[in-house]
Amino acid sequence: MLGDMRTQVAIIGAGPAGLVLGQLLANAGVESVIVENRSRDYVEARQRAGVLEQGTVELLRENGVGQRLDREALRHDGIYLQWPGTRHHLDFPDLCGRSVWIYGQTEVVKDLVAARLTAGLPLYFDVSDTAVQDVETDRPSVAFLDADGNAQRIECDLIAGCDGFHGVTRPAIPESSSRTWQRDYPYGWLGILAQAPPSTDELIYAWHPNGFALNSMRSPTITRLYLQVGLDENVADWSDDRIWTELTTRLGHPEWELTTGPILDKGITPMRSFVSEPMRYGRLFLAGDAAHIVPPTGAKGLNLAVADAKLLADAVIASYGSARSGPRRARTLVGTADSVPPGPATSAGRGRGPGAARTLVGTAGSVRPGPATSAGGGQELLDAYPETALRRVWRCTHFSWWMTSMLHIEGRDPFARELQLAQLRYLSTSRAAAVSLAENYTGLPYGW
Ligand code: PHB
Repeated sequence: MLGDMRTQVAIIGAGPAGLVLGQLLANAGVESVIVENRSRDYVEARQRAGVLEQGTVELLRENGVGQRLDREALRHDGIYLQWPGTRHHLDFPDLCGRSVWIYGQTEVVKDLVAARLTAGLPLYFDVSDTAVQDVETDRPSVAFLDADGNAQRIECDLIAGCDGFHGVTRPAIPESSSRTWQRDYPYGWLGILAQAPPSTDELIYAWHPNGFALNSMRSPTITRLYLQVGLDENVADWSDDRIWTELTTRLGHPEWELTTGPILDKGITPMRSFVSEPMRYGRLFLAGDAAHIVPPTGAKGLNLAVADAKLLADAVIASYGSARSGPRRARTLVGTADSVPPGPATSAGRGRGPGAARTLVGTAGSVRPGPATSAGGGQELLDAYPETALRRVWRCTHFSWWMTSMLHIEGRDPFARELQLAQLRYLSTSRAAAVSLAENYTGLPYGW
């Protein structure tokens, strides 16, 4: 049976980019439907990064999904940079007036999913055969099979491709119209989650001749640790003992001890930088990992996805707001304690229209039926999205590459090692150098 739906924005992917976009749109009275090919359990369990920029935290709070974060997240006012004999602290509030928060991406995803379902907004998990159609026209649509195998179609004003690196939306842009940049690093990260109280108050990024190591955490009882490993390494060859021995060596520092404990999760991830242009094709807009990947050393991936979602949401909201009725805001924030869900919480929700749907100013020289509009500031923001988003993407791509290159051992080149150590010493002695790291790490302003 073919089900036809109509919404304003069809969002493909329920990771941070898609969920934040849906949340921001809902709070501004713009309708969306989210489809996700994984199960709810899967998206809420996958282990990803855990450092939130100050701007990400403020955005989640302002949009009604900051309550648990405010209770459970750990504010960090800096990081340690370490190399043999030295552990240097960078004080972020002193250097740039900002902080970061430790809160797992999985927790952010759980909070956003809960807010959406509590508000009765449509979110389809376990979909398959998702395809985008007619993105070059003013009547794009998304076809998919729902969890029961029923064919569904969402007709919309525009499509947001938030479906990650392996998703279907980026390949929907013809190769003749796109360009990609890629750097694969000749190493990966072996990451573990351990039942052990963190041995450090703030993250330690350690340069060591054996390879990079990172001491991170998730909570007062859970530690997250990483080791640089070769690309050909097999996780089965890394016993718990071997992991702890290597972590103890690389993170070792006089009068400091690494706390160990049972390992709950173990995995190896490759490291890659990837950027794809354009981030918009017709009525398809890409956000997050669908358009770019950064290596995790600068903790930028999740924050960059949230920044894309924020820039795209602002542009979409402004383009509806530039219709004659002018901007309107929803009275209650989705996910705030006082919002009343208009129906049963369901993962295959019915579309809840927050009043009459706004009308989108045409993006391809055409205007959809509805109030006559003049293409005002909103239209310009939509047109500017790819360029504005890419400016931040390339800044974060550079920062992540720079942190990665400074801290990882590549080959046996003694010259390269001395350059890395010279840069680390410079960061520990020059305020200008330290400020540069701090402002990138804690996050540049949106629209930068
Ligand atoms: C993490 O806690 O997973 C984490 C922290 C900092 C990074 C990367 C990952 O740079």
